[in-house]
Amino acid sequence: MFTTVSPAASAVLPPVDLFEAIQALKQELNAVILAHYYQDPDIQDVADYIGDSLGLSRQAAATDADVIVFAGVHFMAETAKILNPQKQVLLPDLDAGCSLADSCPPEAFAAFKQTHPDHLVVSYINCTAAIKAMSDIICTSSNAVSIVQQIPEHQPIIFAPDQNLGRYVMAQTGRDLVLWQGSCIVHETFSEKKLVQLQITHPEAAVIAHPECEAAVLRHADYVGSTTALLNYAQQSPQDQFIVVTEPGIIHQMQKQTPQKQFIPAPPLASCACNECPHMRLNTLEKLYLAMRDRQPEIVLPADLQAAALKPIQKMLAMST
Ligand code: 13P
Ligand code: SF4
Repeated sequence: MFTTVSPAASAVLPPVDLFEAIQALKQELNAVILAHYYQDPDIQDVADYIGDSLGLSRQAAATDADVIVFAGVHFMAETAKILNPQKQVLLPDLDAGCSLADSCPPEAFAAFKQTHPDHLVVSYINCTAAIKAMSDIICTSSNAVSIVQQIPEHQPIIFAPDQNLGRYVMAQTGRDLVLWQGSCIVHETFSEKKLVQLQITHPEAAVIAHPECEAAVLRHADYVGSTTALLNYAQQSPQDQFIVVTEPGIIHQMQKQTPQKQFIPAPPLASCACNECPHMRLNTLEKLYLAMRDRQPEIVLPADLQAAALKPIQKMLAMST
């Protein structure tokens, strides 16, 4: 595929084969490109590693590249920077935020935490560095259940910011968690009614869902897991048809791994493309190329915040198998 920069940029630049140019810049910068499954297919195809939040954090912690190009959203790139204070971390579009992270403002969370002084704070990685700095342990959707299970039963816990993941963890562990009432606009858009209608027209399909979905949707799922877990399940399952209840960017890898299987994106409530994450989709291949060429936008964080946010992330990595 020959993908070029947009007309506006090409007015000042000769046409560029973005795939070739990105490969050349990777060598020149000693850069690694880390991409989340919710990125556009062409970004996934140019990445060195594609993964879920836990996998991406592990890659960021282990890389010996000088520059990390993070094709994901801000909190993910921020986590990579916290793990690599000495490295340059580039995010193709600095506005690629996260509705879930935005649903937990630091001042309000600090006040909430004060009302539960004896509670341990477990925060989902989809939060800002300021929230991480106020947390005892970070978790992702792939290790949240296991992290909570490792905490002594008598210890009360605040779980933030995702109430849906929190409820799922409560159901799986039997623990009573104090939940921050945050949520993801993308995963809350799936319609239970439309899902059930789709199941009627596709009775053979397995429903696979991300735990950020509401409980009413999750109760129809044959399997619940992080993006990597959903991908692995779809690959290993003997079934041929799947209704995928998460951001449909993941379907690119599912289809690549098992082209003979059919993956049906779960419908949102409205007739819109709002099951696509508007934040993730701000990144484009062109912006990724420009970020590498210009070595910006870059993630920059105050050293004290970075140090405070590092501890709970390291704790998570130590508690994850
Ligand atoms: P994963 O933990 O599966 O990567 O999920 C991250 C995310 O943002 C889901 O919306
Ligand atoms: Fe955030 Fe939801 Fe987008 Fe994931 S899908 S990055 S939780 S807004």
